[in-house]
Amino acid sequence: MTARVTVHRDYTISRIDDRIYSGFLEHLGRAIYSGIYEPGHPTADAQGFRGDVAELVRALQMPFIRYPGGNFVSSYNWEDGIGPRESRPTRLDLAWHTSESNAVGIHEFMDWCELVGTKPMLALNLGSRGLDEARNFVEYVNGPTGAYWGDLRKKNGRAEPWNCQLWCLGNEMDGPWQIGQKTAVEYGRVAGEVAKALRAFDKKLELVVCGSSKPDMPTYPEWERITLEHTYDTVDYLSLHMYSQNKAKNTAEYLALSSKLDTYIATIQSVINVVKANKRSKREVAICFDEWNVWYHSHEQDRSILEGMQGWPHAPRLLEDIYNFEDVLQVGLTLNTFIRRADVVKIACIAQIVNVIAPIMTEPGGPAWRQTTYWPFLLTSLYGRGTALQLAVDSPSYETEMAGEVPYLDVAGVLDQGEKVVTFFAVNRHPSKTLSVDLSLQGFGTTARVIDHQVIAHPDLHVVNSVERPNEVVPRPGQGAVVEDGIARVDLPPHSWQMLRVS
Ligand code: AHR
Repeated sequence: MTARVTVHRDYTISRIDDRIYSGFLEHLGRAIYSGIYEPGHPTADAQGFRGDVAELVRALQMPFIRYPGGNFVSSYNWEDGIGPRESRPTRLDLAWHTSESNAVGIHEFMDWCELVGTKPMLALNLGSRGLDEARNFVEYVNGPTGAYWGDLRKKNGRAEPWNCQLWCLGNEMDGPWQIGQKTAVEYGRVAGEVAKALRAFDKKLELVVCGSSKPDMPTYPEWERITLEHTYDTVDYLSLHMYSQNKAKNTAEYLALSSKLDTYIATIQSVINVVKANKRSKREVAICFDEWNVWYHSHEQDRSILEGMQGWPHAPRLLEDIYNFEDVLQVGLTLNTFIRRADVVKIACIAQIVNVIAPIMTEPGGPAWRQTTYWPFLLTSLYGRGTALQLAVDSPSYETEMAGEVPYLDVAGVLDQGEKVVTFFAVNRHPSKTLSVDLSLQGFGTTARVIDHQVIAHPDLHVVNSVERPNEVVPRPGQGAVVEDGIARVDLPPHSWQMLRVS
């Protein structure tokens, strides 16, 4: 089976915003406690941050990490997490029915960001709280000393403002599960007023308004239209979320979900354009896909944990999806979609990063290890930066219920920032056939050669990495890829993910 791709170095889509390789960390399950933070762990530093986890996160080079939620944020009091630890209250978290010790708060999170080489993207509670708490939090984080909140921050050990630029105006406010759910009009009004107040404090802040929690919501996409009617002139990004699942154990349909994601992005881009036109605005609002991943493996386990729960446990094992090789393909397809839509998706956060639907897992007191999905994220984050190339793809396809015709070959192309290397990320969706792909490289000169070729493949779609077998699914050097007469030739084994770099 063959496929052909034509690429020209001048035929580009857009510069890729590095922020599409961002992450998300919520006070949920073991993400914080025994995830990033475990005083007494053999690798813990003086503040209690696990060194093994920090190292694995740092390697992913995430430009931003969204915090502290998620559903958690909608009943969170940020003031509980400041001041001496011994005076911080333990609170009941209504989103996940657990106890929150508040041992980690904003100061600790900011220190951890420095440790792992990332920047904060902070979410405000617009569920149980509102404008006043939001503006106070922003002033606590970014305000000068000499006024109340800046002075309090200084008293708590940090004189310099952190200068956090990216702020989320609530989380999934359309969801019935959300504490303080709102109608689009209610939310649009509140978000608009909060945005106005934050801009009065600092007009350069970048603000993210909530879109739909998923494209299956009954209010989608009217939610986006109404919300933007109220906020278009004061926000920079519209947030979208989507989680992929394969409950039906139908791999062909599962691997077609990126078409649904594509349609989701295109639809919301149209809504943004309609509101922009209605308002006769010159302002650009882009998409911030601040929660995406595979999430379904742990659903049953979570149901039984929550049903059997006695009281309000601290840091139970919630949302601990164990990812398999099939999910490597899904993560690769999602990242390829973001690269191809680099014109409109400017921020994306894999949800989440440690223990909770995460590429990194830990054992309390024990090791940290990489899930299968760590690998496509790592390689795409490292080498998928630069300019997205417009590819002409001619591939055989198959019929799906969800998305009609879907090509077996999914491919994204990136010209690096130095404009010397072109990197292709490809998935072969075919279950049993190798795809022989010819990539015609136009405008790259006659001396191009393959400089790197990595393959993630496995005969068993359901194989997983684990503490005992952490390297079951890892990238391995590919073989046989060549460039001849300006054509790169590569074979993609059935159900495989590949990265091919040519210079
Ligand atoms: O990431 C897990 C949860 O998924 C988040 O708390 C919420 O925003 C979404 O529904």
